[in-house]
Amino acid sequence: MKQRIMSGMRPTGKLHLGHYLGVIDNWVNLQEEYDCYYQVADWHALTTKYDKTDCLRQDVADVVMDWLACGIDPQKSTIYVQSLVPETAELHIYLSMITPQNWVERDPTLKDMAKILKTKEGMGTQVNYGLMGYPVLMTADILLFNADFVPVGIDQVAHVELSRDIARRFNYVYQTDFFKEPQPKLNNCSLICGLDGNKMGKSFNNDIKISDTEEVTTKKIMTAITDRSRMRKDDPGHPDECEVVYKYWKIFGSENELQTVENECKAGARGCADCKRQLAIKVNERMSEIRERRKYYEQNPQLVEKIIREGSEKAREEAQKTLKKVRELVKMY
Ligand code: TRP
Ligand code: SF4
Repeated sequence: MKQRIMSGMRPTGKLHLGHYLGVIDNWVNLQEEYDCYYQVADWHALTTKYDKTDCLRQDVADVVMDWLACGIDPQKSTIYVQSLVPETAELHIYLSMITPQNWVERDPTLKDMAKILKTKEGMGTQVNYGLMGYPVLMTADILLFNADFVPVGIDQVAHVELSRDIARRFNYVYQTDFFKEPQPKLNNCSLICGLDGNKMGKSFNNDIKISDTEEVTTKKIMTAITDRSRMRKDDPGHPDECEVVYKYWKIFGSENELQTVENECKAGARGCADCKRQLAIKVNERMSEIRERRKYYEQNPQLVEKIIREGSEKAREEAQKTLKKVRELVKMY
């Protein structure tokens, strides 16, 4: 029996290279060794964007298409949408009964989310009941499949810790050992920064999308910051102070290419514009197969729909087994 992996992403629309290199590529590797459940967390999106749902459907499809393009294989992994597995909501109810209020109030990630919301939407904004339940809902996602490991970014580890506490508490209250305590498995999220040197993010306008064309990618890379102390192209440069372009070379270039970039830069034999043009070629090479697959799925929306429906059906069957057991343990009618 393979061990289980469960993880999810909120449907934020088209994903970027930070998602690909830091998260999805990791998920792709995990599917060889584990029984993986990958979920688009559309209910989690509602906790903060309940009033902005016009694009939700498209955002879910975009996330799934990016996953498929990057190599998440529906033959190996279960790809599904949270709200298409309503058992999640039922488990969430049972878990919410045994979770002390101060456990969720202590959750540092939730505190941060509440803070961001307040500054974004004005001081008057209340944290809604659904948002308070965010980590409990996430616990339901994880326990529904009795996952052994949960690959997440550092910002989500507190939630997974809480899910361990909730699993333990359920087992204690109902005198069982049914739920495993899931373990976080850290993603390498800070691998690639945005084009301005900050964290790559959609809202910062500094990202390269998985689905961007070669032209758009090249244009974006040409805007990346370089060694700021360099005025003329034959000035000696400092790769270590070239926060974006040189770092990207480390990810997309070979050992040899990286050495060449470093030597030529230091010797003042390489202009930054040329350096970026060459880098863009490397990035486009690396992404080309993925982008072709992305296009294929865009042109076959009924295929994407089928993958989502079948994956969600499969997830549901598994979820129903869990719920049957949980209802027995809680002694529901
Ligand atoms: N909260 C996660 C995030 O924002 C997404 C998520 C939802 C998730 N359910 C999950 C992650 C279950 C891991 C396991 O990134
Ligand atoms: Fe950075 Fe390349 Fe310019 Fe050197 S030549 S500072 S590595 S962009």
